[in-house]
Amino acid sequence: MASPYSNISVYFFAICLDSFMLISTLNGKNLISTTQWANNLSLYFLENKIQSVSETTCETSFNFSLFRIYYYKLFNSNSEHLSDNWLIWFIGFVEGDGAIQTYDNGNRVRFVLTQKESAILYFIHNKLNIGIVKHFPQGKSGKNNDFYRLIVDNPSQILLLAFLFNGNLAMDHRIKQLSLWIQSLNMRFGDNTITFLNNPVFISLQDAWLSGFTDAEGCFNVSITSNSRYKLGHVIKMRFLLNQKDSIILAKIRDLFNTGKVNIRSGTTGVFRYTVTGYKSINTIKNYFEMFPLYTKKADSLKKWCIIHDMVINKIHLTKEGLAKIRMLQKQINVNNSITNKTGVSNP
Ligand SMILES: *[C@@H]1O[C@H](CO)[C@@H](O)[C@H](O)[C@H]1NC(C)=O
Ligand SMILES: *[C@@H]1O[C@H](CO)[C@@H](O)[C@H](O)[C@H]1NC(C)=O
Ligand SMILES: *[C@@H]1O[C@H](CO)[C@@H](O)[C@H](O)[C@H]1NC(C)=O
Ligand SMILES: *[C@@H]1O[C@H](CO)[C@@H](O)[C@H](O)[C@H]1NC(C)=O
Ligand SMILES: *[C@@H]1O[C@H](CO)[C@@H](O)[C@H](O)[C@H]1NC(C)=O
Repeated sequence: MASPYSNISVYFFAICLDSFMLISTLNGKNLISTTQWANNLSLYFLENKIQSVSETTCETSFNFSLFRIYYYKLFNSNSEHLSDNWLIWFIGFVEGDGAIQTYDNGNRVRFVLTQKESAILYFIHNKLNIGIVKHFPQGKSGKNNDFYRLIVDNPSQILLLAFLFNGNLAMDHRIKQLSLWIQSLNMRFGDNTITFLNNPVFISLQDAWLSGFTDAEGCFNVSITSNSRYKLGHVIKMRFLLNQKDSIILAKIRDLFNTGKVNIRSGTTGVFRYTVTGYKSINTIKNYFEMFPLYTKKADSLKKWCIIHDMVINKIHLTKEGLAKIRMLQKQINVNNSITNKTGVSNP
């Protein structure tokens, strides 16, 4: 993706015709014929003097067939309990918070997921049947900073994860980490065990990737500030936030939701933030999470956040009782979020 046209490849060429038509049809917009679109596309190529589209710029769709075959081999049981959407959620979660590590000169591989919340790690552990969950106590005084890790270092189980991730990752640096895993796994299990796929996957609002990514990196925020120009003297501002070092993925998410802004976070050198504000824009966010729910405790924050949104839309916040209830709900949002208290290294 490092070509001078990488922007274009993300926003334009990268969208394979099939997926594009599918999504446009789903959205009921841009109902043009494939030929029409293809003609326009060739014009675009000509105008921009682009000779050919390399295969690597074409995003692929999620494909779990090799994963499911290997799952059967490993456990001698099928993987019906793992729906495609659950797997896609898990991939989004891993791209946010997982560590795909190769060390000892490429001889050893490991997978680590670090969270403050143990329940989500046990949930994943039980679903996929891999690794162990470990508690990392931080001493008596730092009890609130305890954290947990799901650690997988059995090479056969890493191979299972490699089959799951191969061709199904959206972020460049994750794909690079996976390529090191695959080199190491092929050294161990034989050269042609797994063929590395370099293409990023096509993510959309019709799959659960963003839900997983939000469980890892997202934050739902409500702030109540005094402002004498308003009735009862308060302004309620709602925000959906995603923090990431990779601004490319955030820009892509912004384009998917078709709302919000990506900025560098003040006080940092290279952490970006995607922010959605505004009651109308937040509807788009709510609709997505209704279709693809969160699995971490953030689901509780989201629920309360949505209640506040409804109350404001219905002007309940303009009454004294309404405002008091919103204040109460606001205090319960993000109390136990990993984003407010991130512990442990999840992205070495
Ligand atoms: C074709 O491209 C032009 C200019 O880029 C654009 O205005 C037009 O809407 C496109 N038509 C279709 C059918 O995509
Ligand atoms: C999914 O991957 C398998 C194995 O590489 C391939 O045979 C199959 O055609 C792919 N399916 C789709 C829909 O691309
Ligand atoms: C978050 O970390 C701070 C500082 O280490 C600590 O005081 C606070 O109790 C923690 N909060 C939660 C919810 O863990
Ligand atoms: C979220 O809202 C609180 C007020 O409830 C505010 O103090 C805090 O800075 C906000 N957090 C972010 C990340 O914007
Ligand atoms: C936060 O976590 C603590 C301890 O795990 C729990 O007792 C409390 O109810 C949680 N608070 C919210 C708002 O979820």
